[in-house]
Amino acid sequence: MRIAMIGSGYVGLVSGACFAQFGHDVVCVDKEAAKIERLRKGEIPIYEPGLDRLVSDNARSGRLTFSTHLPDAVGNADAVFIAVGTPTRRGDGHADLSYVYAAAAEIAQAITGYTVIVTKSTVPVGTGREVARIIRESRPAAEFDVASNPEFLREGAAIEDFMKPDRVVIGVESQRARDVMAAVYRPLNLIQTPMVFTNIETAEVTKYAGNAFLATKITFINEIADLCEKVGADVHDVARGIGLDGRIGRKFLHPGPGFGGSCFPKDTLALAYTAREANAPQTIVEQVIEVNNGRKKRMARKVIDFCGGSVAGLTIGVLGLTFKPNTDDMRDAPSLDIVPALQAAGARIVAFDPEGMEEAGRLLKDVTFTKTAYEAATGADVLVVITEWHEFRGLDPRRIKDLMRQARIVDLRNIFDPGEMRALGFTYEGVGRPA
Ligand code: UGA
Repeated sequence: MRIAMIGSGYVGLVSGACFAQFGHDVVCVDKEAAKIERLRKGEIPIYEPGLDRLVSDNARSGRLTFSTHLPDAVGNADAVFIAVGTPTRRGDGHADLSYVYAAAAEIAQAITGYTVIVTKSTVPVGTGREVARIIRESRPAAEFDVASNPEFLREGAAIEDFMKPDRVVIGVESQRARDVMAAVYRPLNLIQTPMVFTNIETAEVTKYAGNAFLATKITFINEIADLCEKVGADVHDVARGIGLDGRIGRKFLHPGPGFGGSCFPKDTLALAYTAREANAPQTIVEQVIEVNNGRKKRMARKVIDFCGGSVAGLTIGVLGLTFKPNTDDMRDAPSLDIVPALQAAGARIVAFDPEGMEEAGRLLKDVTFTKTAYEAATGADVLVVITEWHEFRGLDPRRIKDLMRQARIVDLRNIFDPGEMRALGFTYEGVGRPA
């Protein structure tokens, strides 16, 4: 199969590299010449474990190439994937589809022979249909079908998720397009990956329903954590106790400072918008958005209360700034709410994050960044864990205690054992665990 990937951002680059690994010929296209230049040199613009290796291996074998010239890539392709950005539109919170539609218009001009145009970006229901209309209108004679193939990979585990997915969802409406998509994913038959073929609207809704459900699950356990704190229960045991029920499942029941990232906040907003437009309001999802936003804001209050009602003049060490570990992504990270609120309350922030400090430096003001976690603890009156990077779990609590001015920890990800920390002499508070 010859594949053109339009947009070489997170999803485009990971998908392109993985399709090349499947054995297909892939051209990743991007308008940003500097990005393509860097990719050609083997420089990966994002932090994703294993991606640099996958890109360089497949580039060396010639299966993966990079281009700024969309027409060449599309003209030769059996399948063209649209993986451009769909940011939240300013004003109404809906997904901004201008990049998708602009790509569709360009693709229309470049198609030669039968081509399947696939939306890979997360796009609201109706987008596939509109892409087809745009192409048909500008090239009535073009031989093509559209398909919707939403992506379910997680940042930080993207390659594993792509190469060993729980399922692949494909919205297609002709046998010919179905055959092309089946050929694209044929290597996954070897590991018996379920293929869910649907119509286009169904595939589009499936993506949003999946993310909204996961966001709801997190928000649910976060509220249960609040209850646990008040009544002396332990949310971890509750999560295990309910999660072992196969109908509920154990994953995505880790309480924390609220979900962030480039997907859940944006996709829940877009789903709520679509649903209101369609006159089928998603009241649960709307509540989830509100509860999660409130939670991110409340986390600073939790730290302030823990410190006896004021953090004025205190030095607060922060461990972790990205929205989750194994990424340098700061989009909608809870730290972006927590840090400024603590600063506004008079605290000085000293922070460490293994990958996110460059971006955090652009988004947060007056933060002192350190080279190690221990340095962030040095002289601190309280240490706040915002992101559960694996390396933080291995920190030596005795050493941390010696370095801090006051041995106090607010652990918003429950990475430490409360009993152990208290036995060592820390004043310690987690999320949803008995005091
Ligand atoms: C999410 C979905 O998990 C992917 O399946 C989907 O493909 C992706 O969005 C997307 O639409 O592109 P991602 O945003 O990379 O992936 O990250 P997650 O691992 O899902 O975490 C999202 C947020 O939820 C993070 O802030 C994380 O800390 C939080 N979270 C997750 C919790 O607070 N508790 C949990 O139990 C799980």
